Amino acid sequence: MKTLQKIRISGAEVFPIVEGGKGVGVSNGLTAGAFAAADAVGTFSGTYPNLSCEALDEPSVRRSEKTRQNRSKQLANDAIRESIAQARIAHEISGGRGRIHMNILWGLAKAEMMVDGILSGAKGMIHGITCGAGMPYKLAELAEKYKTYFYPIVSSMRAFSILWTRSYSKVSQLLGGVVYEDPWLAGGHNGLSNKENPLIPEDPYPRVATLREFMNKVGLRATPIVMAGGVWNLKEYAHWIDNPEIGPVAFQLGTRPLLTKESPISDEWKKKLRTLKREDILLNKFSPTSFYSSAINNAFLCELYDRSTRQVEYKEAPDAHFCEPLTSTGSTVYVEPDDWARAEAWKEQGFNAAIKTPDSTLLFLTKERARQIQKDQSDCSGCLAGCRFSGWMDSEEHRYVTGLRPDPRSYCILKTLQKVIQGINVEHELMFSGAIGYRFAEDPYYANGHIPSIKELVRQLLSGE
Ligand SMILES: Cc1cc2nc3c(=O)[nH]c(=O)nc-3n(C[C@H](O)[C@H](O)[C@H](O)COP(=O)(O)O)c2cc1C
Ligand code: SF4
Repeated sequence: MKTLQKIRISGAEVFPIVEGGKGVGVSNGLTAGAFAAADAVGTFSGTYPNLSCEALDEPSVRRSEKTRQNRSKQLANDAIRESIAQARIAHEISGGRGRIHMNILWGLAKAEMMVDGILSGAKGMIHGITCGAGMPYKLAELAEKYKTYFYPIVSSMRAFSILWTRSYSKVSQLLGGVVYEDPWLAGGHNGLSNKENPLIPEDPYPRVATLREFMNKVGLRATPIVMAGGVWNLKEYAHWIDNPEIGPVAFQLGTRPLLTKESPISDEWKKKLRTLKREDILLNKFSPTSFYSSAINNAFLCELYDRSTRQVEYKEAPDAHFCEPLTSTGSTVYVEPDDWARAEAWKEQGFNAAIKTPDSTLLFLTKERARQIQKDQSDCSGCLAGCRFSGWMDSEEHRYVTGLRPDPRSYCILKTLQKVIQGINVEHELMFSGAIGYRFAEDPYYANGHIPSIKELVRQLLSGE
């Protein structure tokens, strides 16, 4: 393994090891501060950090405001306040070493206002901001306003070239790096395009080399690329280091730091990580953001898969094929005869509540599940810019609705992520994981229940392992 040299990131010489930002409290001031103290880059999440860690039965409805619009504002203001507090924690723990970044999902409601509020309240404590999920054109402007480095997260050269041409080229001096996040391997939400097949992963090397070619062409030869997704150790990336085809490079890890002493996830989640097999981690399309995402196939995900199997196509008026009337919750629709028989069988099994989806299908659920879904939808706190699950949209012009029927095949991501971070019944909540999560069970470093501190993990990574 080549010795990993420090490189310049966000204005300081640090080891090119970056903590992947993880939403709703999974990477926080404690973890980011520890990475920075180890002369690496720590990333706390500005995506609804749960500083207070209150034990909440129904976290998504804790906001006292009555309307979704007002709950959404309240949530954003809480996130600003809590993120500033996380920045302070990270700053203090770092002791001035390393670098501290903040990650935020651009697909959040009021993402721009939040970044503005956090950067203005945490001056001098955040050196860089990483941002993915969407096309954050405005990121450059905000970075310029606060003289902070910015790092778009992209999954293709094409996405970066669009951002560059439309916006980032105007603030190139503050473009700290470009994060290439492998859309097949990375934990959390993934940027697979319509042209890419979720079942056919592509080698990241040529995709990153193409990105570098574009960056060189537009004068970004010295700007690092941060490789994210599927990175377990650095000896497997030895051919990327000091390679002119890749240029300056850093490595971002999101899944591996989940199993560290500082990681705030519950012991149950940590235990689960040690048991994972390759097939236990699935790229799925249930997220209310409409992005693909990679998570552990636990009871939560199984229920979503199972839920989606019980649906039939319907028409509002009968035709030659859709000729069987089906009456549910007061209205009659028409389905094909085979589907009518399937629906009747589901009803017999207790799945006797039918809810329409935006794709002209009827979904069959138990009454209890249907009630829960409807409650979660009406409790919506407006956390996303647009939500497939509740139909909420953060736009007055659109009267705060997407215009699409709320989708009962999805879920409230805010509610489940707030619960999972508090360790409440984690098997029944969403546990994001990168595809490499199964390596905890195979890597002897984790034998006999070993959980490293972040400092130890950074040392281990520097050794190549
Ligand atoms: C539990 C979890 C939560 C994540 N949350 C976010 C997030 O909120 N925003 C983001 O940009 N990336 C998020 N990620 C992605 C990581 O920042 C990182 O880029 C990714 O995990 C790298 O791939 P790896 O999991 O193979 O290490 C998350 C990843 C995990 C495992
Ligand atoms: S329903 Fe959607 S927008 Fe509303 S709080 Fe849940 S995930 Fe966020």
